Amino acid sequence: MLSYDYKNALNIGEISFEDINKVDFANAYSKLMEKLDNGAVGFRDVIYNENLDKYKFLNGYKNVVVVGMGGSILGTMAIYYAISAFKNNAYFIDNSDPEKTLSILKKVDLNESIIYIISKSGNTLETLVNYYLIKKRIEKLNSFEGKIVFITNGGKLKREAEKNNYEILSIPENVPGRFSVFTAVGLAPLCSLGIDISKILKGAREMDKICQNEDILKNPALLNGVIHYLYDKKGKDISVVMSYIESLKCFGEWYIQLIGESLGKEGNGLTPLLSIGAKDQHSLLQLYMDGKKDKIITFITTKNYRLDEEIVFDDLNDEEISCMLSDIIKCEQEATEIALTNNGVPNVKITLDEINEMTMGALLYMYEMQVGFMGELYNVNSYNQPAVEEEKKICWELIKKCGNYGNK
Ligand code: PA5
Repeated sequence: MLSYDYKNALNIGEISFEDINKVDFANAYSKLMEKLDNGAVGFRDVIYNENLDKYKFLNGYKNVVVVGMGGSILGTMAIYYAISAFKNNAYFIDNSDPEKTLSILKKVDLNESIIYIISKSGNTLETLVNYYLIKKRIEKLNSFEGKIVFITNGGKLKREAEKNNYEILSIPENVPGRFSVFTAVGLAPLCSLGIDISKILKGAREMDKICQNEDILKNPALLNGVIHYLYDKKGKDISVVMSYIESLKCFGEWYIQLIGESLGKEGNGLTPLLSIGAKDQHSLLQLYMDGKKDKIITFITTKNYRLDEEIVFDDLNDEEISCMLSDIIKCEQEATEIALTNNGVPNVKITLDEINEMTMGALLYMYEMQVGFMGELYNVNSYNQPAVEEEKKICWELIKKCGNYGNK
């Protein structure tokens, strides 16, 4: 399904097996397992307990509109764009940028759409605002033939859904937003988008079996977590995901949120970055190789690209080389890996057999477990986001000042 290669993290000589063994990863492992076992955190339970029947009625709409922020939408986008990069019936409204939202709403026929309004708290500003825009448009229609589904646990949005008799799906309270892709948050819209959600969960479950392994060398989530933790302690606290599969761009955004929001606490954390190979060989690679030595790179690649074609270099003087397009990008990835290793930049590699529901389920779940383990290593709560809440309060105050608040 996927393989994990860590040899270049050790090859450059900065950390060794001995260093890995000095980290108290057994303690991190048992603390996370205890939380998962006693239900303090529920992201493992959902991959076993989700009843998929309830999503069946969500199919058959021409368009799928998804409104949400951060953990309420990024996982769906990560899986959708990886699997269905070439289809065009999905509209993701994941910002309050007027140009983006309004241009989407101009394009999409709401009457032919299933519309998901997703917010665990039910009070997220951007989601509320985007819902109000949709509501206004629906009210202007003679009749509304589409469907609105709220995925929320409370707040203003739940009240709104109840008032209007809209369908409501809920999210287990013990699953934080950025860990919620395997709940209704991700599964409902992905099902409407024609993606086989049972295979996504199957991939996650297979990865879970691997991540239960107490032997660190057989547990990629634990090992990758410890390797990143050790490099952070050596000043390499920028964690770059360099994907040689362009359709994983949104996976990169999901990864950035998961790492940033979960571990960035009390002076700890890694700075997550995304690069796309081979494109970024022509921009950021210079910095990664020859700039400040503060990064660890994770290559993501695949054995099989879903589209491929033979090419021939026919203008070489003495020889003719023919190969597949996929061979070119694989050589580029390997060359970058060798060059970085030669220059002392630590790197690891995740290779997916191919991009499909199973491998994406496995990949996202592996990172959820890794972040769970890392939270225990840093001794921070990976499942809250107090700093984000601070900005939200300030923003509401500013909005009250800038609008006609109270003057109705
Ligand atoms: O991971 C998280 O908890 C956050 O990123 C939330 O998902 C994000 O802030 C959106 O919150 P809500 O689902 O309450 O609208």
